[in-house]
Amino acid sequence: MFNEITNIAIKAALDAGKILKEGFGTSFEISSKEGKNNLVTEYDKKSEALIIDTIKSNFPNHYFLAEESGASGITNSDEVQWIIDPLDGTVNFAHNLPIFSISIAAHKNNELLCGIIYQPILDELFVAESGKGSYLNNKKISVSNNEDFDSSFLVTGFPYNVNLNPCGCIDTFVDIIKQGIPVRRLGSAALDLAYVACGRFDGFWEINLNPWDVAAGAILVQEAGGSVTQYDNSTYSITDNSILATNGKIHPRTVELLACYCDPNPKCRV
Ligand code: IPD
Ligand code: CA
Ligand code: CA
Repeated sequence: MFNEITNIAIKAALDAGKILKEGFGTSFEISSKEGKNNLVTEYDKKSEALIIDTIKSNFPNHYFLAEESGASGITNSDEVQWIIDPLDGTVNFAHNLPIFSISIAAHKNNELLCGIIYQPILDELFVAESGKGSYLNNKKISVSNNEDFDSSFLVTGFPYNVNLNPCGCIDTFVDIIKQGIPVRRLGSAALDLAYVACGRFDGFWEINLNPWDVAAGAILVQEAGGSVTQYDNSTYSITDNSILATNGKIHPRTVELLACYCDPNPKCRV
């Protein structure tokens, strides 16, 4: 059903999932990256090494952007680049909370070719390939049909510098919560996007994410019929600072709020 690139990404994600599942709940090495709450475990590294080895042994000329090892290989924009988050939701994993995933995407000249997100604990495999749609465990998925922002079910995340309230992220959250709209914070941006793609959530937004957090999820939402833009509704690419992914129907109303709070002089304060 899928092309060779997607099939190798699926194999890498499933094999990395076995490693994370083995490590989950055991005692493992944890260290801090930039901030004291930005963690990395030995399983982030093990998972990433396996994913890169699997891809390299099939596509020796491709290059990589991976969270723990950075950019490597031939950086020629005409070649395929793989974008890898070997463990999205590290803080959850480190606290034995079973909400985390593996996120793998491939792109060429900024056109996403495929996106795979795997949640090993629930054995849920999300796959999107350009032009072929999005799938959860081999069944086609689509975004939700809800048109009413007031009865939507939303998810967001906060960056590691949330204390600086970038783009008014705290205010937006407070505003929406005050409207009585349920907003979840799962701690894995990749899963947040996968869950928008399959209709569990109507929308997701977050500021200051990295390409490895969002690349696979962005194509999953797009191929499932949803909309992915920046907060101001402008065209989205995986290196952009803000991401809003919805079922499309609640997009305009969400843009109104996010764009307003992101403004240095917002008129929308609650
Ligand atoms: C994090 C998760 C989280 C998001 C953070 C990300 P990591 O990724 O996706 O949901 O809020 O901004 O950095 O560090 O667990 O791979
Ligand atoms: Ca991540
Ligand atoms: Ca990670």
